[in-house]
Amino acid sequence: MAAFDDTQLTEAVLSSFADAPDPRTRGVLGKLIAHLHAFVRDSQLTFDEWRVAIDFLTRTGQLSDDRRQEFILLSDVLGVSMLVDAINHGDHAGVTDSTVLGPFYVGEHPVLPDGSRLAPDAPLTVTARVTDVGGHAIPGATADVWHADHDGLYDSQKPGAEPSLRARFACGDGGFTFRTIVPRSYPVPTDGPVGELLRAGHRHAMRPAHIHFLLRAPGFETLITHVFLAGDDYLASDAVFGVKPSLIAQLEPGDAPGEHRLSYHFAMKGLS
Ligand code: BEZ
Ligand code: FE
Repeated sequence: MAAFDDTQLTEAVLSSFADAPDPRTRGVLGKLIAHLHAFVRDSQLTFDEWRVAIDFLTRTGQLSDDRRQEFILLSDVLGVSMLVDAINHGDHAGVTDSTVLGPFYVGEHPVLPDGSRLAPDAPLTVTARVTDVGGHAIPGATADVWHADHDGLYDSQKPGAEPSLRARFACGDGGFTFRTIVPRSYPVPTDGPVGELLRAGHRHAMRPAHIHFLLRAPGFETLITHVFLAGDDYLASDAVFGVKPSLIAQLEPGDAPGEHRLSYHFAMKGLS
C-alpha cells in the first residue's frame, strides 16, 4: 500500500481519476490537480492559510445567486475571464474584439424600437452599425445593451428595481440607435470577499466608463463586448483587465449644446 506522503500524493490523486470516461474531463481534472498541488507545494501553505482560503471561497459562494455573481467577479479581478476570452478568440481577423460579460447581465432586456430612450434625460445618442466582416447587414441580428447609472449602479444591484438602462434592439437594416445618459467610470462591488482581495492587494476597484453590448445572429458567433469612452482616467488600469484599444470610441458633440454622439461599428464572425 502506498504511503500518501508529499512525494506520492499527487500521483495517487491523479490515478484516482484515471478511469474518468470522458477524455476532456480526465485531461482538465489532471491539469487542475497537478497545478493545485504544485501551488500548495511551492507556497508551502500553512493550515491557517488553507482555512482562510476555504472561508473565502465559502463566502464567495454564499454571496452568489441569480442576481449577484461574486464568483464571476472573482474570475474577472484575477484576469481569468479575459484569459478565457483571449484563448477562445485567437482567430478573428476583421471581427470586433470581445471582452468580459461581467456579473450584471441578468437576461431581462425589454425589446425596444429603434431610436428609443433608455432614460428620460438622455443627452447621448448611440449609433451602432452591425455587419459581417464584409460590411453586409446581418438578417435577424439582435443587440442587448446595458450600462450603469450616474451612481455607478446597475438595475440588478437595486432590490426590486424594474429593468432600466437595459434594452434589446433588432439590428434591422445593419444597425440601431438609442438615446441614453453618458456613462461614467464606477467601482465593481467591494462589499464582499472580492473587495477584501482588492484591498489586500492595495488595488482600486474602478472600471472605465463603458456600455455593454451582446450581439446575436443566426449563423454568427455571439459577440460579447463593451464600447469604452476615450479619455477616461481608468482605461489603463481597469479593475477587470477588460480594455482593448479597438473598443475605445470618442464622444463627439451632438446636435444641441450638452448633447453627445457615440458611433461604433460591430463586425460579427460567421460560423463556418
Ligand atoms: C461590468 O462592467 O459590469 C463588470 C464587469 C466585470 C466585473 C464587474 C462589473
Ligand atoms: Fe459594466
